[in-house]
Amino acid sequence: MEELSRLAVLGAGHVGPVIARLAIKAGYPVAIATSGDPEDIALITELVIPGAQPRWAADAVADAGIVVLAMPLHRFLGLDPALLNGRLVVDAMNYWPASDGVLKPFEDGTSSEIVAGQLAGSTVVKALNHIGYHELEDRARPAGAPGRRATGVAGDDPAAVAAIAGLVDRLGYDPVRLESLRAGRVLQPGGPVFGAVLALPDFERAVRDDARSLI
Ligand SMILES: NC(=O)c1ccc[n+]([C@@H]2O[C@H](COP(=O)([O-])OP(=O)(O)OC[C@H]3O[C@@H](n4cnc5c(N)ncnc54)[C@H](OP(=O)(O)O)[C@@H]3O)[C@@H](O)[C@H]2O)c1
Repeated sequence: MEELSRLAVLGAGHVGPVIARLAIKAGYPVAIATSGDPEDIALITELVIPGAQPRWAADAVADAGIVVLAMPLHRFLGLDPALLNGRLVVDAMNYWPASDGVLKPFEDGTSSEIVAGQLAGSTVVKALNHIGYHELEDRARPAGAPGRRATGVAGDDPAAVAAIAGLVDRLGYDPVRLESLRAGRVLQPGGPVFGAVLALPDFERAVRDDARSLI
């Protein structure tokens, strides 16, 4: 059987545990971390993400093949980029002023491009950001199952996009590849598929019809 990458999920709030659970179900070894002591999340992890390892963020990242950022953007800005050097990073974050406060650089831009700019030593792919955490878990289906939905995977590095498309596929969604972080703008708040849980043809149509995916 193919050996799957170790996953480090940074963030144990709403969406981090869902991604961790889906990944465990798909057979990935998963570590989960907050900004603090893993002891603080040991019990809750055992209860709600059985099989996941609570770790210090640095330890979780150190032996991970894929790191998922599942923390609010304003907290990401306080993260030391060196922690993620050389890593394949999934940006599942959204700029949400109601909870992030107004963050000037994110007001007009494509948030994942800004995240990638902060993480110059990492390869960033935008994914798993545009479906609410409840639905992300409830709508996941194996490949080919009736009712399977699609989700976008955007990045500037085709090999990295392919790797994360593979992850998304195993987690339970048809991946739709977008060939740049800029094109991934369609996945962020205000874009045509943000908050939507669409079947593949509808997703592709929504993205194709949105001029921003062509930029
Ligand atoms: N909620 C959703 O349905 C959903 C769906 C898709 C994407 N998203 C996006 O995902 C991001 C997180 O959303 P959320 O609703 O899950 O947030 P949340 O419930 O507020 O959880 C945030 C988590 O991030 C942790 N954290 C903060 N700084 C950290 C750091 N430096 N290293 C590791 N962990 C850190 C927090 O723990 P400590 O404070 O203890 O460190 C907490 O466990 C947002 O950008 C959101 O837009 C959310």
